[in-house]
Amino acid sequence: MIDLHTHILPGVDDGAKDMEQALDMARQAAAHGVKTVAATPHFLNVTWSEIKEKTAHFQQVVRENGIALDVVVGAEIYVDPELIDLPADEIPTYNDAGRYCLIEFPMLELPPYIDQVLFSLQVKGITPIIAHPERYQAVIRNPNLAAGWIEAGCLIQMNANSILGLFGEKVKQTSKIMLQHNMVHVLASDAHSTGRRGFYLDRCVEAAQRLVAPADIEKLVSTNPALVIAGEPVEIPEVRIYRPRKRLWFFRK
Ligand SMILES: [Fe+2]
Repeated sequence: MIDLHTHILPGVDDGAKDMEQALDMARQAAAHGVKTVAATPHFLNVTWSEIKEKTAHFQQVVRENGIALDVVVGAEIYVDPELIDLPADEIPTYNDAGRYCLIEFPMLELPPYIDQVLFSLQVKGITPIIAHPERYQAVIRNPNLAAGWIEAGCLIQMNANSILGLFGEKVKQTSKIMLQHNMVHVLASDAHSTGRRGFYLDRCVEAAQRLVAPADIEKLVSTNPALVIAGEPVEIPEVRIYRPRKRLWFFRK
């Protein structure tokens, strides 16, 4: 499996605190069947060239410690209007290939400039991958928002732990709806540590296989992430619009 969303890079964000913890995370990832991770630290108070340098160093230390894990570079970008004018080579993309980036939105409310930012990335030849939309309040209320982003040319990344219920029942239900309506292209851990938010992609795959065909899950944890790293196009299945069942009310006279 390939995990495209991890906070494994040591001492950069709220993920691995130091090299020791980062190596523990690398060992855990490998033990859970992950062959490649993208290091996607929050793109805050750190430049893209610093992330690239730190990732190369971390990969070297992982090898020196005999851990069978490939580490490619990436970042989790917080949506911000300043991205619109940022030159393409300063925008973090997976494997520095200039083709895909990971972008997150605020959990509670979607700002009005989102579409403009997404479009500006696409104009630069970068396909935005939207991080864990199943956790956003607006998507919980209306999962079809994800269909709109897909229609606009974006991909969707879902967190493994959302399916397992780590973020509560509403997020779990939204994950289920999104999976069953072809609104997910990548499943990833968003691992921050070896604890509660560790690498549990294998458990998530098991749970997801009860919701959709195993071949489809394989695409989300292997085929599609490999295409993203290679900067190649991902096959997009036709989205099914979610239509919530109407509640029937019976009144007694
Ligand atoms: Fe993250």
